[in-house]
Amino acid sequence: MSLKFPDNFVWGVATASYQIEGATDEDGRGESIWDRFAATPGKTHNGDSGAVADDHYHRYPEDIALMKDLGVKAYRLSVAWPRIFPEGKGRVNELGIAFYDRLIDELLKNDITPYVTLYHWDLPQILEDDGGWLNRATSDYFADYADIVSRALGDRVKHWMTFNEPLCICWISYGEGRHAPGKVDPSFRDPAIATHTVYLGHGKAVPILRANSKDCKVGIVLNMSHVYANTSSDEDRAAVLQQDAVINRWFADPVLKGEYPQEVLRKLGGVPKIEPGDMEIIHQPLDFVGINNYFRSVVQGGGDPNSVFPIEVRVPNADRTEMDWEIYPQGLYDLLMRVTYDYHPKEILITENGCAMPDQVTPDGNVHDPRRVKYLHDHFEAAHRAIMAGAPLNGYFVWSMMDNFEWAYGYAKRFGITYVDYETQKRIPKDSYHFYQGVIKSGSL
Ligand code: FCB
Repeated sequence: MSLKFPDNFVWGVATASYQIEGATDEDGRGESIWDRFAATPGKTHNGDSGAVADDHYHRYPEDIALMKDLGVKAYRLSVAWPRIFPEGKGRVNELGIAFYDRLIDELLKNDITPYVTLYHWDLPQILEDDGGWLNRATSDYFADYADIVSRALGDRVKHWMTFNEPLCICWISYGEGRHAPGKVDPSFRDPAIATHTVYLGHGKAVPILRANSKDCKVGIVLNMSHVYANTSSDEDRAAVLQQDAVINRWFADPVLKGEYPQEVLRKLGGVPKIEPGDMEIIHQPLDFVGINNYFRSVVQGGGDPNSVFPIEVRVPNADRTEMDWEIYPQGLYDLLMRVTYDYHPKEILITENGCAMPDQVTPDGNVHDPRRVKYLHDHFEAAHRAIMAGAPLNGYFVWSMMDNFEWAYGYAKRFGITYVDYETQKRIPKDSYHFYQGVIKSGSL
């Protein structure tokens, strides 16, 4: 039976600036925290960096032509803050703006709607030297950056996302240290402080975007994972609530409900420092919530009572991607329904979903990725079921348009539906690209 998606469903693909652009020293771009992190021995696989990446900075016309051929209606991209403000704040670099001007015009010429994320992790290093997201003033610099970008592009860009994945910006970058700037604080206190700065930046930027970009839609992108108990024991079920509070509600509740989960705040005792009026700034009306989903979370009780996190369980014998992430499409359905019931968003977009697979070019010159085709098929099916159950899901952006720099994993993990030969920069559409092309064309699965 064929599953029909709504007529105006937004089929898209997603990427991010540092992962594809390259040209890190060109046209006056400043240093980002990812340049510094990648240059620090031992931080990324093989010492890989985004210095060249997919060379999209120069090859964007070719990449957009491929998107046109794919048939997507929308493209989610991010702007690199250090291209716009090489010193993080103050002086605006017109050459940086000019690049995004060209990019947006090329997309519109090809009838592809740009969905623009302002912050997909490439903070100017100079701001990190001043405390980064642990420094409350960074929220004002972010608002200034949002102002300049939306003044420049707001006549043509009508879909904005402030931040990509606050959990990664805060927890993975200031707690676990696996992402730039590589700070470690297992107590979750610094990540909590970072969350508050990020969210003040979000709250300050939303009205600015609305003022500069007439009739635009504004949202934020949260990575969420539905949480399950390992067994039916009381302890394991209590662990579900604990995990959900820290990985999902800590990030969703402030922006969507105007509050932090009390039980996490209590454990943190005193951080973040919430000044009068902060929660009102943070709690802005949003037109949509973007959800990135890659896996579920399974937990058990009996963890460290001082930790905000319970014990994560690795499900045995599960089907897994190259990231070692469990493949569990039902988790996407459960998550979409939960967000619908708990937060009542006007609109949900899946702003990222996809998988890394061990792709190789075969002697016939193609890349056959049947496991990615199945992954996408099964997740589209779960999304369709959620739509039929009432979720206001209006779009789906596959991560990623093309293989790219996968952060600490460098170029070792391939998430693209287009293969990139990093030696020659040749793009080869994979079988999953052709599968997706068919879904978009028919509007059904
Ligand atoms: C998400 C990121 C994205 C990409 C995918 C695989 O966490 O937003 O940049 O790396 O994971």
